[in-house]
Amino acid sequence: MRRLKNVVNVDEVRLAARRYLPGFLYDFIEGGVDGEEGLARNESAFSQHSLMPRYLIDVSRRNTATKLFGRSYAMPFGISPTGPAALFRPDADLLLARAAADANVPFILSGAAGAALEDIHAVAPGRNWFQLYTARERQISHDQIRRAADVGMDVLVVTVDTPVTPKRERHLRNRISVPFEITPGIVLRMTRELLMHPTWFARFFASGGMPAMANWTAYMSAGASAAESATFFFNQAFVPGDVGTPSWRDLETYRNLWKGTLVVKGFLHPDDAVRAADIGCDGLIVSNHGGKALDRAPASLDALPAIKKAVGGRMTLMLDSGVRRGSDVVIALCLGADFVFAGRPTLYGVAIGGQAGAKKVLDIIAHEIDLIMATIGCDSTDRLDEHFLTEETKR
Ligand SMILES: Cc1cc2nc3c(=O)[nH]c(=O)nc-3n(C[C@H](O)[C@H](O)[C@H](O)COP(=O)(O)O)c2cc1C
Repeated sequence: MRRLKNVVNVDEVRLAARRYLPGFLYDFIEGGVDGEEGLARNESAFSQHSLMPRYLIDVSRRNTATKLFGRSYAMPFGISPTGPAALFRPDADLLLARAAADANVPFILSGAAGAALEDIHAVAPGRNWFQLYTARERQISHDQIRRAADVGMDVLVVTVDTPVTPKRERHLRNRISVPFEITPGIVLRMTRELLMHPTWFARFFASGGMPAMANWTAYMSAGASAAESATFFFNQAFVPGDVGTPSWRDLETYRNLWKGTLVVKGFLHPDDAVRAADIGCDGLIVSNHGGKALDRAPASLDALPAIKKAVGGRMTLMLDSGVRRGSDVVIALCLGADFVFAGRPTLYGVAIGGQAGAKKVLDIIAHEIDLIMATIGCDSTDRLDEHFLTEETKR
């Protein structure tokens, strides 16, 4: 595909996705919350740091392979969970899982995905993780944990940073609501979008339109529509401030129910990290949900050093939010992350090019990591530490 062949970095994949997708869907990927200051903060956190190269070192043999929870991956980078992926490309969750398997990196299936965890696990047994959104009816969450264990999912990721539905202003402007309401204004806008993005529309409708929330339909009456499953999910997982809001007690319950590796996604405060370690959680994805939860939250990269200091020896520390280049991955590792994830980059890729598009993004990042490591004089990811950062940007 021409679109894919010509791109040389993640930002160009983003621009291609912007051209390909209807505007309201591109906004769905790209948008943050409130005034969207967090988006810029996430990316600029990485540019505040400079790498200090060392030369005349033999880097002819380099190894980007990285161990995580006992498995070896091709590089220290994986795919974060993104619920609505299948809106951007039919079967996107499966395509992302296949691209991740092909590249030998971890893929985290969102609890809000269009694909069932049983189907994703079959793509690459042993390399897929399941992300849990706590349901208002806790027995649903407990059953989802049981299902993930039954199929042998590797890691359970509990997302904690969206206790209420955040104010996503692009959604409000685009009148995206659940349940989706068809107004004359929307019909008019959709017609315009359809004419401008015919390939996306053709693919979407040929695939049967909106996918159901595959991990939630088991708890609804048979024959529920995709829209009904979306409403069900939102009422279970995103209703503001009621008993649905997950608590420490829930995390303790999940720890008891899930015998495998347990990761919490979304903590930014070191005290929360310590408490999670005390409960027996194995790892954290330090994350601000890619700027989609709290606009004035710190960048994950800025929150990492204090968390590292607090729980560094006790937990595996991962990070996402704002990673767009191999150099971002290298900088995060130098600052103490064990592994790095990103959400949007592979979404852009899968939108424009399916599995090959997602794989292209993974290849770009892998290539950049390899080149940066060679250029700073490092032959192995486990040697990346603060010595490769300039004095003024060390923490
Ligand atoms: C469109 C979209 C949907 C997302 N859906 C989920 C989700 O279902 N569960 C979750 O834990 N995080 C979700 N996230 C957050 C990502 O997992 C991740 O934290 C974020 O994308 C990282 O920032 P980055 O996009 O700058 O890499 C979503 C992010 C995007 C962009």
